[in-house]
Amino acid sequence: MTDEDTNVTIRVENLKAFYTSKNGLVRAVNDISFEILKGESLGLFGESGSGKTTVALAILGLFDNLSRTYASTAGNKENKALWALKDEAKKKGLSSEEMGMELPGVEGQIWFKGEDILTLNEKEYRQIRGDAITYVPQGSTKSLNPYSTFEEQTAEVLRAHDEDNTLTNWQVMKRVLQSLDLVELGDVDIRKDMKPSQFSVGEDQRVLIAMALIPHPDLLIADEPTTAVDMAIQLRILDAIGIIRKETDLSLLMISNNQGTISQTCDKVAVMTAGKIVEFGTTETIMNSPGHPFTRAFIMSNPTMEVIRKMKEKGLRMRGIPGKLPDVSIPLVGCPFKERCEYVQEICREEIPEFREIEVGHFVMCHRYEELPEW
Ligand SMILES: Nc1ncnc2c1ncn2[C@@H]1O[C@H](COP(=O)(O)OP(=O)(O)OP(=O)(O)O)[C@@H](O)[C@H]1O
Ligand code: SF4
Ligand SMILES: [Mg+2]
Repeated sequence: MTDEDTNVTIRVENLKAFYTSKNGLVRAVNDISFEILKGESLGLFGESGSGKTTVALAILGLFDNLSRTYASTAGNKENKALWALKDEAKKKGLSSEEMGMELPGVEGQIWFKGEDILTLNEKEYRQIRGDAITYVPQGSTKSLNPYSTFEEQTAEVLRAHDEDNTLTNWQVMKRVLQSLDLVELGDVDIRKDMKPSQFSVGEDQRVLIAMALIPHPDLLIADEPTTAVDMAIQLRILDAIGIIRKETDLSLLMISNNQGTISQTCDKVAVMTAGKIVEFGTTETIMNSPGHPFTRAFIMSNPTMEVIRKMKEKGLRMRGIPGKLPDVSIPLVGCPFKERCEYVQEICREEIPEFREIEVGHFVMCHRYEELPEW
């Protein structure tokens, strides 16, 4: 990385993450790039199965082991052979392109604090995972231990990263209370002694965010942190995340298929479908002037009040995205949205569209952007 990059927390370049399944390779993340600046929040916004969680697993250095374990327990012979080839390529320092074939696992670069973390071994990764990069996983309240109090669980996180045992009990307690306070749990002196069963799902969710903040990470990855809770709690959780970002220099990768969540917490948005980022821009641009037919259809399939008003003005009706999700076990030819796009033409079926900057900071991956109706 160069000196100019000191303002960048993480830069993902040409990331691919391919699972193996009974149908062969699953191209869950297929050559995507993005960066998050210090103190900035980026939303990964896209439909179910588009590859959002897989991006998180790749950044956390968990992808290869997870997908490999799955292949060895439920995989077939062909897949095991593919993983063996992957190992061979890794040993020789060759990419799948240099091997002349597509291979499972992660490829590309993920620059974090001046190094490509995809080159780290598991021991080195453990120094940053859960410390400089923390994660609130999807559906994560189950990951709380029902038998320990919140104080015990949060303190354990902090102690786990205090390898030299420099923190005093008092310092640990102060950090625990501070982070519980930050997520606005209220009455933290009493609540710290309670166990998860004594709290609601929304409160559990906020404790998990507090636990992810305790190590003072540079990057927090929050994967659908509000799906299991009602609207009022959602707003409180998102508010808490907003407050934390203002008070610290934290960068945030917010993963969600919910417009409200993304609008409330993100500066910029990367829109995903079928393992590709098809549009990128500021949250304002993506939500108010989306340029890609997928983004437009996705926003209209689950519109906010503002979008409903706009659709009424234009005589548009709310509807889901017609057609089936693309099958990412088939190699991508042409545009990832071609089977479901109402503007599709021959070129869309033949050539992968370029990811073009159509105005400063706004990128769209569509052959026909200039010919689309105004939004
Ligand atoms: N262990 C696995 N083995 C094979 N394929 C997988 C595995 N896990 C996920 N996939 C596939 O990878 C693709 C991306 O999945 P991913 O979970 O990243 O999507 P997502 O955008 O997070 O979806 P959601 O919004 O539902 O959480 C999907 O096609 C999914 O079926
Ligand atoms: S490239 Fe073609 S199929 Fe893809 S979004 Fe644009 S118009 Fe639709
Ligand atoms: Mg997911």
